[in-house]
Parts: sequence; C-alpha cells; structure tokens
Amino acid sequence: MTSDNLKDEILKLKQERRAVILAHNYQRDEIQEIADFTGDSLELARNAVGVDCDVIVFCGVNFMAESAAVLSPEKTVLLPAEDAFCPMADMITVDFPRDLRDSFPGYEDTPEYLFPKEFTLREIKSRFPGIPVVTYVNTTADVKAESDVCCTSANVVKVIESLADDEVICAPDRNLSAWAAKNTTKKIISWDGYCHVHDRVRMEDIENARKKHPGALVMAHPECRIDVLELADHVTSTSGMLRFAGEKDEGTEFIVGTEIGLLYRLRKENPGKVFHPLRRDMVCPNMKKTTLNHLYLSLKEMRYVISVPEEIRSGAKKALDKMLAI
Ligand code: 13P
Ligand code: SF4
Repeated sequence: MTSDNLKDEILKLKQERRAVILAHNYQRDEIQEIADFTGDSLELARNAVGVDCDVIVFCGVNFMAESAAVLSPEKTVLLPAEDAFCPMADMITVDFPRDLRDSFPGYEDTPEYLFPKEFTLREIKSRFPGIPVVTYVNTTADVKAESDVCCTSANVVKVIESLADDEVICAPDRNLSAWAAKNTTKKIISWDGYCHVHDRVRMEDIENARKKHPGALVMAHPECRIDVLELADHVTSTSGMLRFAGEKDEGTEFIVGTEIGLLYRLRKENPGKVFHPLRRDMVCPNMKKTTLNHLYLSLKEMRYVISVPEEIRSGAKKALDKMLAI
C-alpha cells in the first residue's frame, strides 16, 4: 500500500471503530500529522480522560498507553508498536530489581552504578517512612500505584509544592529531581534513573551550538543534566517549548534541547522562525517504533490491547487523579 492509501485506510478504520489517535510530540512526523491530538505527557493524560470515543490508539511508549488505560477503563486502549517502551520507566521496580543491561542494546558500557539494582521502591519507602513519593509518569502502573502522586516534566515543581511535607521522594529521573530541587525549598530524595536521550547532552553541546548559532535561544528539557539546564535560556516540557517559541518574534532562532521529533511541530507552527536540534542524535528509538503501518494494523486488528489489573489500576488512578487535580 502507498502511504496515501495507508492514510485513507487509517482514517476509514478510525471512523468505523470510533477511535481517537493520540500521539506524543516525539512521534514520527507522519504519525503526528494523522493524529487527532499531539501533546506532551500531561496533555495526553488529560486527553485520555476527556475524549469521547470507544478506542484510544496511543502512539507513544507503553507507560503512556497504560496511563490511558488506568484513566479510561471503559475504553479500549491500543499501543500500535507492541515493543515501544521507555528504558527510564524500567529503571524502577516496586518489589524486585531487574537487570536492565538486557534492555539496553548498545548501552552495555553504561556504568553499573547508574542502575538502581540494589533498591526497590518498597525498600526506599521503608527507609524513609512517611515521606511522600512523587513518581514521574514515565513509570509502570504498579510503581504509580505504590506512589502518593504522579508528576510530569510540566508540573513537577507544582506537584512537590502542593504537598505539606518538607521532604519528598522523587523517582525515577535523577535529572528531573535535580531540576525540581533547584526550584523548591523542599528536600528531594532522588532515584538514580535517567533518560538516555537527554542524559547524553553535555555542557559543550550547548557551548558549541551557541557558537554556531549566535543569538539563538536555547530550550532544554528537564530530563537533561542540571549543569546543561543551567546554561539554557528556558527549561520546560515539550509543549512548554511550543508555547515559548510561539510567543517569540518572527525570525527568532532556537536551539532545541529535546528529542528531535518535536522539531516537526515547532517548524509547522512557527514557519517564520528557525529551529536547530541541540544534537542530531537526540532520537528516542522507542518513540520512533510506531509507523503508519503499525497504526493501520492496530486499528484493523485491534492490537495491542493495553489493560491493567484492577488492583493496580485503582492505586495508579489515585496517583494520576491527584496530579490532574493539581
Ligand atoms: P514531555 O512531553 O512531558 O515533556 O515528556 C518527555 C518524555 O520524554 C516523554 O517520554
Ligand atoms: Fe523514555 Fe527518554 Fe524515550 Fe521519553 S525520550 S520515552 S523518557 S527514553
């Protein structure tokens, strides 16, 4: 099938199934183009609650589809690429440590100390009894169920500030925790997880990009290291970057410190502005797994259905609802 035929078939099936296609800002251009809604993690979580449909096709990674299934149990949630996962989400477990090296082809040389193999969320909780746990939405549903409240890169500080306690456990992204710690007076107990796409950025990357594009504004995602974030002009989520760029004058140049999928919307929504990736290798292989063909087969064969066992779903929903209420 040609890509035009595929698109027609997807749109036809979408109507027949009363489906809505949600896509993360990091998806391939053609997926973003055909989606009903594109957004950051917070916007997509909100959308999963409010959208009127029978089927949600979630073009993203599995924790995102899982969150949609937690929030909308009456809908069928489909993940078109069955193996699209977030390595950071797998860096934290409730009960038993996983050997993450198997999930990181090509990352075998990652230092062992980065993997929090020796602890589990329950162990950390028992070390710090009574201290609330804030988990990033990039976690599995059972980890969310074991948490007090969830957060995204867009609302982490707001969520932490909403809690009465002076100390907070923040997991699993050490970089997001460091960013939150800088922006709150509360003490943050952090996990040692990270996003391999954002964590690879170094201060020299910003310095080199600024030399190459003098005058350009640097936007960076809080999953980058804190020393990198300190050099940026604006630190925010993917949709925060879209808003920031949208407010600037025509002709403004930007250096984009996040996964390169965001460049599609930035350029489309701001034709008079110029966007440069901070590093061309800021590509999340899992976010790129979903193709038009996956989307077509997903709607045609109603695959892959994502569901969450009720005892986990209710706990995870509490943590997500609490976040959405903030
Ligand atoms: P946001 O879109 O919420 O900024 O999330 C970034 C991310 O890495 C999602 O996997
Ligand atoms: Fe996970 Fe990073 Fe990919 Fe987002 S970009 S899905 S945090 S690995």
